[in-house]
Amino acid sequence: MPPDAVPVTAGPLWGDLHPGTLSTAIVGRRIRVYDLVESTNTLALDHGRHGDVYVADRQSAGRGRLGRTWHSAPGKGLWLSVAFETPMEGLVFAAALAVRDAVPSDIAPSLKWPNDVLANGKKLSGILIEQQGDRVALGIGINVNHESEDFPVDLRQKATSLRLETRRVWPRREVFQSLLIGLDERVILLQQGGFEALHAEWAAACAVAGREIQCGPTRGVVQRIDTDGALQVDTGHERVRITAGDVVYLD
Ligand code: BTN
Repeated sequence: MPPDAVPVTAGPLWGDLHPGTLSTAIVGRRIRVYDLVESTNTLALDHGRHGDVYVADRQSAGRGRLGRTWHSAPGKGLWLSVAFETPMEGLVFAAALAVRDAVPSDIAPSLKWPNDVLANGKKLSGILIEQQGDRVALGIGINVNHESEDFPVDLRQKATSLRLETRRVWPRREVFQSLLIGLDERVILLQQGGFEALHAEWAAACAVAGREIQCGPTRGVVQRIDTDGALQVDTGHERVRITAGDVVYLD
């Protein structure tokens, strides 16, 4: 563990957050709150037991999908990871739906393939699942109390926060607790064989089937989303399977 990654049990921003306040079965059985870490995903991968949650005010090297850096504005967002001791098919669907349901519904959050949550067409949250041996880190970033200037200039047109969408400051603890409760319900569902139902709910929420998209060099109409989350795209010449990338809607 890096020397700056010292857990703080109840910082002022987190109020009375401690494991006993949550009635979850798996997710959040242990919650570790940090001021500064490199990446909460690293902590989860290196130290996490099943259901442990790592949350930090600041990340010095937050990671995003496709090898990108995740900008983690200090004290403004929810930067957290949940550790699992075994891989779980459908975890990304569970996470995206739990994030969508943890944020206020009046901002009309939507899911964008593969695992972004958008508000008003801008990115509100990203999810990164990493694996080391059997251990899995489910990393979730939610932009909560950012003002526009809290984002780097190049992200200001593409990213948003709950505060920007609602013009009010949100107690991060509330969003955090709703998220863990919603995630716990879905993880339990997955463990009880509810993968198909969760996949169907996620695919419907993504609403990408039937749309014309561009993803890297591939342009075409999405035929369906496979159960592993891959897109089946008809380019007019062939059927292409896309497992990662950034989708742009053309219709
Ligand atoms: C993406 O959309 O590119 C995924 C972003 C995931 C960011 C979160 S913040 C908490 C966790 N720790 C990290 O280093 N990344 C994830």
